[in-house]
Amino acid sequence: MIQTQPIRSSRPAAMPNNLGTFGGFRLMTAAMLTLGAAFIHLAVAPAHLREYLPFGVFFLAVGCAQIVLAVEVVSRPTRRLALAMAIGSAALVALWYVSRTVGLPIGPTPGLAEDTGLTDVICKLMEALSAILFLSLAAWPAQRKVRRMWLQALAMLPSAVLAAAMTSAAVAATLSAMPEAFNAAPAITGQPSTSLTTLVETPGPEPVDAFTLTAQEAQIDGQTVWTYGGTVPGPELRVSQGHRVQVTLVNNLRGSTTLHWHGLRLPNAADGVAGLTQDAVQPGQSFTYEFVAREAGTFWYHSHQQTEQQLPRGLFGALVVEPASGQVAENRDYTVMLHGNPGDVSVNGTTNLQLEAQPGETVRLRLVNAVAPGMDGGPEAPVLVGAPFQVVALDGRDLHAPQPLHATRVPLGMGQRADIVFTMPASGAVQLIDTEVVGETSLVQNIIESLSGATTPRLPTVTIGNGTAPASDIATAPLFDLTRYGTPTPDALALAPADVSAPIVLDKHPGMRDGRPQLIHTINAEASPNVPPINVQEGQIVHLHIVNNTAEYHPMHLHGHVMSVLARNGESLQGSPVHLDSILVGPGETWDVAFAADNPGIWMFHCHVLLHAGMGMVTTINYQGVSTPFEMGSRSGNMPE
Ligand code: C2O
Ligand code: CU
Repeated sequence: MIQTQPIRSSRPAAMPNNLGTFGGFRLMTAAMLTLGAAFIHLAVAPAHLREYLPFGVFFLAVGCAQIVLAVEVVSRPTRRLALAMAIGSAALVALWYVSRTVGLPIGPTPGLAEDTGLTDVICKLMEALSAILFLSLAAWPAQRKVRRMWLQALAMLPSAVLAAAMTSAAVAATLSAMPEAFNAAPAITGQPSTSLTTLVETPGPEPVDAFTLTAQEAQIDGQTVWTYGGTVPGPELRVSQGHRVQVTLVNNLRGSTTLHWHGLRLPNAADGVAGLTQDAVQPGQSFTYEFVAREAGTFWYHSHQQTEQQLPRGLFGALVVEPASGQVAENRDYTVMLHGNPGDVSVNGTTNLQLEAQPGETVRLRLVNAVAPGMDGGPEAPVLVGAPFQVVALDGRDLHAPQPLHATRVPLGMGQRADIVFTMPASGAVQLIDTEVVGETSLVQNIIESLSGATTPRLPTVTIGNGTAPASDIATAPLFDLTRYGTPTPDALALAPADVSAPIVLDKHPGMRDGRPQLIHTINAEASPNVPPINVQEGQIVHLHIVNNTAEYHPMHLHGHVMSVLARNGESLQGSPVHLDSILVGPGETWDVAFAADNPGIWMFHCHVLLHAGMGMVTTINYQGVSTPFEMGSRSGNMPE
């Protein structure tokens, strides 16, 4: 039975001081841990008060209660109080565990698991430890006496240092939190500006291609995924060049979401970036995107709210704009979307795709890389075996007079596309085999790979046509080089002199970000949202000098514009002009690109390795005189990365 009696039961109640026993050591340690947790709760309370009042009040109350009880249990220790504190601390840990796994039914994001940060992990560790200590005190209060006070004090020192260190680390992590509200281009009083909400497609007579995409959860292969209409990838949208596209996003998810049209030059208000061009669409709500498909080519769409989580969960699909003439030149036109994680890649939702084609037919494969790469950001590198092929377009834009290639791996950073065209052989099948290009690898990875001989793992295969495909040594297949392919022809954009030149230096360093120790990924030495924007005026020609100071790959994606490649590592293009919306910047490389500032708005420019973007590698192109009413951060719930 637990009794209301002093913990040091062998002593008369008149001597409340417990320092003289090892029970006192446990008691003091538990009390210090509780006190530390109290300070952490008080440190996070202000942010919670602003974000969601009941949580803020709860954290204040818990912090104050912990201080009072920690003092109380030291000055008047009883087994009952120790037990109560053990239960209280354990309950707080349990509540936290639920909030981080299944989510709480109330709060700013009800029913959704919250992110785990360093602050809360430390705080819960302290509470769990104190719960164990309090429980042991309640169970075994009587202790051997220690006579020397200095010995006692010495024994206390490590736990005092530990509690203080944990408390200060947790409080420091809290201070590195993201701003609750950040506006990338606020309207400034006294300065006239156009809100980007007015930058919409003007009404016109174009024929309308209308779609509805319903964002909803689904079970695929026993896994809960987020989908458009129940499939991963979402439905392929095919529209005609020159048509007006209307897509209604219906959000039946438990979280807010958006739709971004990757690679399309459309009006800014239809760009679908949460907190920049719109507020994220709440559960149960819908939003209609409207734009004219001016360019033919291979594009894709995906969520741009909490992209790092939502895209890998399944919220993406292909968008093909067919030429205005109505038909592509080839007999067969297939979209081949690579997705999943490195080493676990699927193609159009399967690991073994079969496509129809007869001998002698021409085939176009629209390759889209939606594979969420690992930390090194390495590209996929699919290779076609069984027939010579041409790379006819990159990022949806045609190359000039492309030459035939034999068994060449085509590197595609995440977000990039390549259209390849070939003629079916007189007999047998053709295969597309995916391989990976690895960036920076760890020593352990290198050892594993050299032991297994698997530097370019064979990933899923697409088989086109019937019969067997010829065997081919893809491990030795050369890599496609876009700077020396196709035939030169004047590129007006590349020839125009620059009005603005901006350096884009990509780097990384360890640090505290968003309440967690992270490898912070920087542009010009800053991480988002603190990277200074690239300021442009409509009509300017802008040159970017991109320098990669890391050993990783960074596919840098510019919204709403197309970049002409000028040079790699200072060497100008040798072949066809290359027009990209996503440029793969390899380890240590420099790239020079140009774009015309011809589409007013506030546009994202970021690494499409979503891990890197989440760790800060994001900035914006801000047109002079354009502002946004939307803000990112916990206050609005808009989290574009
Ligand atoms: Cu494919 Cu900013 O996105
Ligand atoms: Cu990157």
